[in-house]
Amino acid sequence: MSRTIIVSNRLPTKVSRNAEGELQFSPSEGGLATGLGSIYRRGENVWVGWPGQYLDTPEDEQRVTEQLTADHMQPVFLTEQEIKDFYEGFSNETLWPTFHYFAQYAQFEPHTWEAYEAVNRKFCEVVAALAGPEDTIWVHDYQLLPLPGMLRERLPEATIGFFLHIPFPSYELFRAVPWREQLLRGMLGADLIGFHTYGYVRHFLSATERLLNLSRRDGLVETGSRAVLVDAFPMGIDYDKYAEIAASEEARRLEHEYREALQGQQVVLSIDRLDYTKGIAQRLRAFELLLKRYPDLHNRVTLLMLVVPSRDQVAQYQALKEEIDELVGRINGQYRTINWSPIQYFYRSYPIEELSALYRLADVALVTPMRDGMNLVAKEFIASKLDQRGVLVLSERAGAARELSDALIINPTDTEQVADTLYQALAMPEDEQQQRMQGLQALVKRYNIHAWVELFMDRLAYSKIKQGALNTD
Ligand code: G6P
Repeated sequence: MSRTIIVSNRLPTKVSRNAEGELQFSPSEGGLATGLGSIYRRGENVWVGWPGQYLDTPEDEQRVTEQLTADHMQPVFLTEQEIKDFYEGFSNETLWPTFHYFAQYAQFEPHTWEAYEAVNRKFCEVVAALAGPEDTIWVHDYQLLPLPGMLRERLPEATIGFFLHIPFPSYELFRAVPWREQLLRGMLGADLIGFHTYGYVRHFLSATERLLNLSRRDGLVETGSRAVLVDAFPMGIDYDKYAEIAASEEARRLEHEYREALQGQQVVLSIDRLDYTKGIAQRLRAFELLLKRYPDLHNRVTLLMLVVPSRDQVAQYQALKEEIDELVGRINGQYRTINWSPIQYFYRSYPIEELSALYRLADVALVTPMRDGMNLVAKEFIASKLDQRGVLVLSERAGAARELSDALIINPTDTEQVADTLYQALAMPEDEQQQRMQGLQALVKRYNIHAWVELFMDRLAYSKIKQGALNTD
């Protein structure tokens, strides 16, 4: 019987150590884990990935392996050096900034490239030991760009899909990477390559044409021996899950508690992983300008800003943390009164019920990334608005803006526009809020995570049939 193998850098279960140094297992809350949960736990299917923790003894590795394999997961362990060079290094100091248009942050170090290739090879060995020629392998994201190509060499007959969760940048950015041809050839080992938007598809096709001289027709890239299907699949969320949590007793109770504490303030909500791509500092400056331009809002509006710690061993992330601390301190210092604090800033992770209560509470969600492959916070906010009140202010540079046209769309570097749009959002009449929210909800509900998985898997099966037909032509 054929099986489906999901491969991503992180597994849907995180391993960590508690204060006593004991190993702990907790679910990763990402959308991908929910969406693919129904697939990898079925039959003989399996999810291959890194459990997110360095383990220093073979006994610990064995314990983790036993626990994970019992739940359809196969761990790939990384050494401390690999975490440094493959994960923090090439993945997050070379590819992440380049693909998000932060070229000035990108480092190009041959030794981190070598580690990146070596770790991809390690993933390939683990997958090849599990997979047969009839199996379907679905590889995810920028940490594993060479993997489809490596797998194709080992398993020429396998059905291989690849999905990129971050933007694919324009050719001018991409061509700066010294190993650009290898990256493209790696991706082209797949039968189907998916991106969130048609813009990213276009950039990818232009890169293959200009760098590899490959021609394309009908959404297919011809590699010489094979034809690879390339298409856009905007990722969704588990809509019903978010709507259900928002309807729960716990979310209602927490919302009520927060509302009491905020004493009738209008609430602007901002939730992100700590990342320079999210435009957090620029957002704070826009909020500062709002307070300066519109004194009628003083004592009447609060920015609730949740920042989730991330990649804190990477220098740019540490510098950003300091910049945010400084900006929040400065703005609050200038405007706060005895009973009003314009910004309430939280630097930690939150359980989903609390996030849900905050989504319920918020009058405006301010989602203003400089670049974002998709942005699921925007969609979670929409699914949580059971009363259809609330306004989404969304950056035109998030993949989600292509779909969510009923949001107020802004250019995140235009601070004046962000401040004025925020003012407009806070003053929007309820019937207009409802009208916009209805449109947004219909879309996010329909194109949910389950529809996304189904569409990708169907196209992948189709690409294989088409491939067979081409070979017999
Ligand atoms: C983005 C990436 C994912 C990544 C996640 C969290 O969404 O597309 O591949 O897993 O960020 O980042 P981390 O470095 O903690 O895995």
